[in-house]
Amino acid sequence: VFSGKVKAANVLASAPSDRNLGAFKELGCKTTHCNSEVLQHCTVVFLATKPSLYRGLPRHQAVPAPPAVPRDHVIVSVAAGVTLQILEELLPAGTKVLRVMPNLPCVVQEGAVVFARGSCAGEQEAALLKSLLSSCGLCEETPESYIDIHTGLSGSGVAYVYLFAEALADGAVKMGMPSALANRIAAQTLLGAAKMILDTGEHPAKLRTDVCTPGGTTIHALHELEKGALRATVMNAVEAATVRARELGKR
Ligand SMILES: NC(=O)c1ccc[n+]([C@@H]2O[C@H](COP(=O)([O-])OP(=O)(O)OC[C@H]3O[C@@H](n4cnc5c(N)ncnc54)[C@H](OP(=O)(O)O)[C@@H]3O)[C@@H](O)[C@H]2O)c1
Repeated sequence: VFSGKVKAANVLASAPSDRNLGAFKELGCKTTHCNSEVLQHCTVVFLATKPSLYRGLPRHQAVPAPPAVPRDHVIVSVAAGVTLQILEELLPAGTKVLRVMPNLPCVVQEGAVVFARGSCAGEQEAALLKSLLSSCGLCEETPESYIDIHTGLSGSGVAYVYLFAEALADGAVKMGMPSALANRIAAQTLLGAAKMILDTGEHPAKLRTDVCTPGGTTIHALHELEKGALRATVMNAVEAATVRARELGKR
């Protein structure tokens, strides 16, 4: 809707209450409290209810989709930990289903999204989803096994970056810069550094080395980060979140 790829008037959102539907209404989307109405009027259906709603249901009685999912429909689930196997067991045989894992910056169209397709979803459905989700940021099709890794890298990774941004700014505050200015500059530093990785296609190690003048400020600072085992700590964090995502998915 934000990118203009889909007209707001062509979006129909359903939920039991108006709690979240207000935001859709403000964008000009249509809303309903009846899930079947969505299936009647829309061929691409996103399931974005809490993962607990999918568990413990009899087969072929997925919430919110009722059993009669027409063959030409594409069902997309964003529910964390709900596998393609669970989705295919809940939906009628032959349903084209895809599983998506977004991250928070999708709300500012700079997200990192991965998706995997179910056994009945083909190239066409994957291309359609990629085209729609590219409006939310980077969008890549991956094997389903990467989805938990994506959670460790990017879903939870957003929080590691916030922690780093906070520490970066705090360092500047310690050295005498006002906090508000330090926070803005820290955020812009992350944005600029990230954009250079994407725009140049260079490995981060190459870009980091380019900033290091022999005997200069940066190499002195990097030595301190190495003493604090920054790299090993961040790798451990990605591993811990990935393992936890796998555990939660098995429940
Ligand atoms: N938030 C994230 O960053 C993030 C990241 C990755 C994945 N996810 C996944 O996204 C999903 C939604 O998370 P959220 O944080 O956005 O939760 P949320 O704000 O609680 O949204 C869930 C929505 O589902 C609606 N709902 C509940 N039962 C329903 C039913 N039977 N039929 C149709 N709609 C129903 C709820 O309606 P009411 O408004 O009436 O309660 C609510 O609007 C979860 O599966 C989560 O794992 C979220």
